[in-house]
Amino acid sequence: MADLYTRDGHALSSLQKLRFFPLSITGGHGSYVIDEAGRELLDLSASWGAASLGHSHPALIEAVTSALSNQAGASVLSSTNEAVVGLAERLLDKVPGRGDRRVWFGHSGSDANETVARAVVAATGRPRIITFTGSYHGGTAGSIAVSGHSVQEHADKADGLISLHYPDPYRPIDGDTSGEATLDELRRRFETDAAPNEIAAIFIEPIQSDGGLIVPPAGFMKALCGLCRQHGILVVSDEVKVGVGRTGRFSCHEHEDFVPDIVTMGKGLGGGLPLSAVIGPADVMNFATSFSMQTLHGNPVCAAAGHAVLDTISSEGLSENAGRTGAYLMNRLRQLMQVHELIGDVRGRGLAIGVELVHSRTDKTPAARAAAKIVYRAFELGLVHYYVGMNSNVLEMTPPLNLSEAEADEAVAILDKAITEVVANRVPDSALDGFDGW
Ligand SMILES: Cc1ncc(COP(=O)(O)O)c(C=O)c1O
Repeated sequence: MADLYTRDGHALSSLQKLRFFPLSITGGHGSYVIDEAGRELLDLSASWGAASLGHSHPALIEAVTSALSNQAGASVLSSTNEAVVGLAERLLDKVPGRGDRRVWFGHSGSDANETVARAVVAATGRPRIITFTGSYHGGTAGSIAVSGHSVQEHADKADGLISLHYPDPYRPIDGDTSGEATLDELRRRFETDAAPNEIAAIFIEPIQSDGGLIVPPAGFMKALCGLCRQHGILVVSDEVKVGVGRTGRFSCHEHEDFVPDIVTMGKGLGGGLPLSAVIGPADVMNFATSFSMQTLHGNPVCAAAGHAVLDTISSEGLSENAGRTGAYLMNRLRQLMQVHELIGDVRGRGLAIGVELVHSRTDKTPAARAAAKIVYRAFELGLVHYYVGMNSNVLEMTPPLNLSEAEADEAVAILDKAITEVVANRVPDSALDGFDGW
């Protein structure tokens, strides 16, 4: 029989493939995945941050097995169950917010953000939404419609969508490293083509994830939030990639002194099972019934996985570990900057880290081809990670939250070697044939 990757090519649609190298996974434990040849690879992506507890964590196995052994239905649409109610109560407790709030559960970051985009417009009667260039809020029509990532630029956008520049301290517009230029841009738009009373919400990412792991300037989100609040515009914090303990706090916005109206979560919340959540004000979240539902939403097996993730974050101190090990890893990566001119910037919070590659630190020309080759070569050497960014030149690290310092060292050693070999032109262009990335 052909190998698994070849069979994948013959059997699976390309529509959902985003491939960087020929990885076939047959199992995993902790921060490692095992490929078809039995090779163990250190997983610094965790399937784009979803495998928050790593692979085959006993708490997740136990929770899911137990939920399936006495299955309390498979949905929350027309019945309720303890797992889903209890999880909502815990999230209301853990995620900062104000007033009377409710929780909605879905399967993905995409359905969570799509639900919010529809609900805020319907509930407020205001037709327009603000987003940022480079934002990625999902892969369904409604979440693409409020996103600004180049990979989706040919897809339809929401009517009247207002797009702002995300302030990037590494690539400031006109030298502005404070984000004031973006705030001015918004004030100007309010007075010209974007009447505030027509705007239901602004979608923010407290760290812009697929746009290049960009940490905004300190104070920017608070100022933005204040400006929007003055006009009754709801602030939606998309924490699908960077929430649920990843940055060293449970919610990423806790690093900044502001409280959003709505928070969306996904990926790591289910630890690898499909689970997302929206927390928001009751007047929006209870605006209608039968408004945003899919049969398996709120199923108790995925909710049980959510409980296991929250339990383990707390019992194993995983937020703290993400903060501590993330700082350690970032520091090690910054040391690599002294050896490799190609690294223009290392940034992030906790275990959400971006390494931006440039041909020259002076003009900061994005080194996209090098990024593609480095992730490819790192894979050959035993490390799984991918790249992101509007220029496809930012290596992304979103490993399991229980990553150890020894594993961080192992990753840095492999990356060091991969960069050295790519810079020395030892990785041929042909290696990338068939791997388009994004
Ligand atoms: C910030 C953010 N929001 C939403 C999504 C969409 O999540 P999903 O792919 O689980 O639907 C992603 C996925 O990368 C993301 O990074």
